[in-house]
Order: sequence, then structure tokens, then C-alpha cells
Amino acid sequence: MEFLGTRLDNPLVLASGVLGNSFDILRRVHENGCGLVTMKSIGPCPRDGHNNPTVIDLGYGLINAVGLPSPGYDHMEEEWQALAQRTFPVNASIYGGSVREFQTVAQYVSDQGPDFIEVNISCPNSEQHGMMFGINESSAHAVVSAVKKVSQVPVIAKLTPQAPDIGKIARACEDAGADAICAINTLGPGMLIDIESRTPVLAFKKGGLSGPMIKPVALRCVYEIFHAVSIPIIGLGGVSTGEDAVEMIMAGASLVGIGSAVLYRGMDVFDKVNRELDQWLASHDCRLSDIIGAAHKNEAETR
Ligand SMILES: Cc1cc2nc3c(=O)[nH]c(=O)nc-3n(C[C@H](O)[C@H](O)[C@H](O)COP(=O)(O)O)c2cc1C
Repeated sequence: MEFLGTRLDNPLVLASGVLGNSFDILRRVHENGCGLVTMKSIGPCPRDGHNNPTVIDLGYGLINAVGLPSPGYDHMEEEWQALAQRTFPVNASIYGGSVREFQTVAQYVSDQGPDFIEVNISCPNSEQHGMMFGINESSAHAVVSAVKKVSQVPVIAKLTPQAPDIGKIARACEDAGADAICAINTLGPGMLIDIESRTPVLAFKKGGLSGPMIKPVALRCVYEIFHAVSIPIIGLGGVSTGEDAVEMIMAGASLVGIGSAVLYRGMDVFDKVNRELDQWLASHDCRLSDIIGAAHKNEAETR
């Protein structure tokens, strides 16, 4: 299949951050059936993550406060060399604390030759006192248009479910020139309390939710985005099985992301989900392209 001019073996995408930026690991993810691997978000300067514990498995999903640790875009020589020699498609995720920082990181990263740049507008925005670029149409538009001006590769905007109207944010990104939307980032923040020590469990106290528990929110977001834009969507959030992927595609996704499920089903979750998806399509006598946005079919009647 083809996505924005790049050939992919299949529609599955590794979500940013879950497996870091080691190219040995990213290559193994590809060998285990992943069509497009996304790098962990890369920032403007060296940044430590939060203290441990940072990730807790709740059984029905994860809560994490990793805190976007990054060596900084210009301290990643090993990764950029590996990227230049790769034999599989790579999506490079970036973040910044201001429009200018997003643009600086995007320019440098785009020059390293990834297949796509994913703009993580779901991280704290120092210009807006801790708010996120992705909950405000004008700041989402400003970041995406600044990145588009310097990027030599297609730009994907990654959205947060915290936006009051995610369709409007997606449309602002499309108007700014985004080539695709990725949704969703983690939900929350949430909190856990250790009742014996009477303290929050995460060192950072609060963290984002991912995995099976957020799938209904992710489906609703993808459904609303499909309604709002005509660029393709990478649907992400709580997908663990082929049937979850079918749901995401019917909501409007052209590609399907997998993050937390790597921890639940192993690195070969991509092979497993590809097989399950193919079996479902074969048993329903249809192709993937037949079911993109299929859940919107009877919209006029149900409204
Ligand atoms: C440990 C962890 C680290 C993450 N790091 C990033 C990141 O660096 N950049 C980003 O855009 N999303 C990051 N995410 C969010 C995922 O890419 C994904 O959007 C989210 O987990 C929902 O997908 P899932 O339910 O399949 O895990 C992270 C998620 C987890 C669990």
C-alpha cells in the first residue's frame, strides 16, 4: 500500500515513544510486521525525563509520566546515521516549547531524511503557561504552518483528546498544510494513590492513560476528525487486536497505530494484528479501502 507517496508493507504503525529511538529496536519492530515505525518525540534541547516510577501497568491499560526525555535533536548523531542507512519507512516525531522551537527541530530533522515528520502538539507549551498547542486552533495552525515551511517531507499532526473540539483542531492543521492527522495521544492526566503510604504512585503524581481503556475515546476522536477533514488519519489509542483495527478503520483511519499493546502482546503484535485484520477482511469479502470510514455510512439517518 502507499501512504503520502511512501510504500508501506501494511497499515500498522508503531506509536511514538513506547519503544524509544534505538534503531536496533525499531528495525526489529519492522521485522515483526510493522509497516511504519515512529521515533520517540525529539525536542530542541537535552531534557531529563521524570523520576521513577514513570510507567504503571493497570491491566486494562497504562498510566505514564515519562516526561518527554530527549537528548536534543543535535545530540543524536548515532540515530541520524542509522536513519540514513535504514531499509524501512520511518516517521520522526518532534516537539518544541514554542513555534520557533518546533520549526528549528523540524528543519534539522527533515534534513536527516525521515519519510515523515510527526508534529507532537500534545506536549506542554511554555508560551501558553503549560497549555498544549493542540487544544487551541490558532496555536495548532501556527505550529503546523511553521513546520510545513521548512519540512521536505510530509507532515503529520498528532492531536490530543483533551481538545474541546478535536475536529476543529484537525481542520486548523489541514488548513495549515498538514498532510495527515495522527490521533490520539494519551488521555488524562490521571492519578493513582498508594493507600498504604498515602501518596500518589507516580513520582510526577499524574500521568497519561493509554491502552484498551482509551479505545472508545480514540474511536470517537477519529470519527469526528474524519468528519472534519479530507486528509488521511492514523488512528491510534487502545488497539490490541485485528478487530480493534477494523473498528479504527471504520471510524475513519487509513493507518492504525499500536503502542501499549506491544507490552501486552509482545513485539510480534504487528504480525498478529496484520493476520487478524487480513482474516477479518477475507471472511467479510472486502478490502481495507472498502471499510475506511464505513461507520459514517448511515450518518444522515442517525442524526
Ligand atoms: C511510555 C509511553 C511513552 C510515550 N511517549 C510518547 C512520545 O514521546 N511522543 C508522542 O507523541 N506520544 C507518546 N506516547 C503516546 C503514544 O504514542 C500513543 O499516542 C498512546 O499511547 C495511545 O496509543 P496506545 O493506546 O496504543 O498506547 C507515549 C505513550 C507511552 C505509553
